[in-house]
Amino acid sequence: MKSKKLELRGLYDETAGFYDHRYTEIQRQKYSAVIKHLPSRFGRALDVGCGTGLFLDELRRRARFVVGVDISEKMLNVAQGRGSGAGLLLADAESLPFKDQTFDCVISVTLLQNVPSPENAVAEFMRILKNHGLVVYTSLKRKHSAEQMRGWAVGSGLKVEECVEIEDSEDIMCVTRRQS
Ligand SMILES: C[S@@+](CC[C@H](N)C(=O)[O-])C[C@H]1O[C@@H](n2cnc3c(N)ncnc32)[C@H](O)[C@@H]1O
Repeated sequence: MKSKKLELRGLYDETAGFYDHRYTEIQRQKYSAVIKHLPSRFGRALDVGCGTGLFLDELRRRARFVVGVDISEKMLNVAQGRGSGAGLLLADAESLPFKDQTFDCVISVTLLQNVPSPENAVAEFMRILKNHGLVVYTSLKRKHSAEQMRGWAVGSGLKVEECVEIEDSEDIMCVTRRQS
């Protein structure tokens, strides 16, 4: 693993113990925006960069099968303690350990500002997505513009439905779909 990623993993490992206390309210604001785009029932969902699993319960209410992946083992340990029933895996967003066209829905909230080549991660989201599946990702607006974020989807062959600032939050959200 490259040194930037190792450094980040170390940083999030150190954050795991107080992440929920500091960020739950901030993240929930973003989840409300994401949820509006999710179908009420679907098959398989993946949360990439799931962190402590704050969004996994919500996904479990809607999807039959939910997996969360993260690069930080300590963040995943907190997610495990949450008992959401989601599968959890230590994995890198730029190289996801899933077969092509596995998921109906791929979600990634406040991950991509951390990833050295976010376009590679979005290409991975596309690869593991079923036809007509949905990908929703957010990133910090101080790090990425809506234009850049839109470009990652278009470059991967995803159709952009919306790319907007989330109200009262630090993130931009892109809602995209695989058309075939
Ligand atoms: C700001 S937190 C967001 C966590 C979660 N999505 C939430 O809404 O609370 C970013 C997460 O991305 C993870 N992460 C950073 N780089 C990653 C990578 N290359 N692959 C997978 N996860 C990564 C971090 O370990 C951290 O848990």
